[in-house]
Amino acid sequence: MNCLIVGGTSGLGLAMAEQLKAENTVYITGRHDPQAEGMTFHELQLGKLDGLLANIHTLVEALPKLDLVVYAPGFYQEGTITDLNEDQIQEMLSVGVTGAMYVAREVLNKQGELAEFVAITSTSQYTPRLLEPVYTVAKAGLGAFSNSLSLDPRVKKTLVAGPAGIKTKFHEGRDVDMSTYLTPEWTAEQVIEHLSGDYIYKYIRILREPAHVEVIETRV
Ligand SMILES: NC(=O)c1ccc[n+]([C@@H]2O[C@H](COP(=O)([O-])OP(=O)(O)OC[C@H]3O[C@@H](n4cnc5c(N)ncnc54)[C@H](OP(=O)(O)O)[C@@H]3O)[C@@H](O)[C@H]2O)c1
Repeated sequence: MNCLIVGGTSGLGLAMAEQLKAENTVYITGRHDPQAEGMTFHELQLGKLDGLLANIHTLVEALPKLDLVVYAPGFYQEGTITDLNEDQIQEMLSVGVTGAMYVAREVLNKQGELAEFVAITSTSQYTPRLLEPVYTVAKAGLGAFSNSLSLDPRVKKTLVAGPAGIKTKFHEGRDVDMSTYLTPEWTAEQVIEHLSGDYIYKYIRILREPAHVEVIETRV
């Protein structure tokens, strides 16, 4: 299979790339090349709307027919809605959800179909958080977009995976106790395991203390 992992340069996305690369051709995107063996890096800045659709178009045109697209980028942003300026609000929405819509649009325009689409959301998809007002919107929006995409007969299978805290550079610079957080490797295993099987849409939550997976919805 040809797999594109948007936001595959670090953390959960990179762990998925590492696990998929043995049996698949894996392409990863991000701003920083992790120089990981067995996968191909393409630079893709998602944080600025200006030129984003054109950049995604160029990327998709350069890749072979994709069987799996994983949308995994994200970043932590703390502050009430009045703490965030216009650029910060737009950056979160662009990385979190607009990029996913553009990627799906360009892939379907080029290929006419997509076998598998995976969206990485968060517990913030369904948990209100005072200090993450735009992140929660981006994740809820990504979940809603993916669910709607699963109704498109050109998309054969959609998995929405909402993890709890993971030990990654997402939390770099924050004073947070990550001792009970999930590892990116284990979280990636759960996503890949739940991708298999015969269904059109599945929504899972990957939770901690203890680490476990809840299947919230499956549509066959
Ligand atoms: N860590 C957690 O506790 C946690 C919990 C729930 C959900 N999540 C979600 O899990 C996903 C993976 O996060 P992670 O924990 O693995 O974090 P991570 O290690 O920081 O990885 C984030 C990924 O997003 C990419 N990215 C961020 N901003 C970008 C931008 N402006 N343009 C292009 N790419 C960008 C990064 O690429 P570059 O750095 O190369 O640009 C990287 O590949 C995210 O969607 C996050 O919201 C994380």
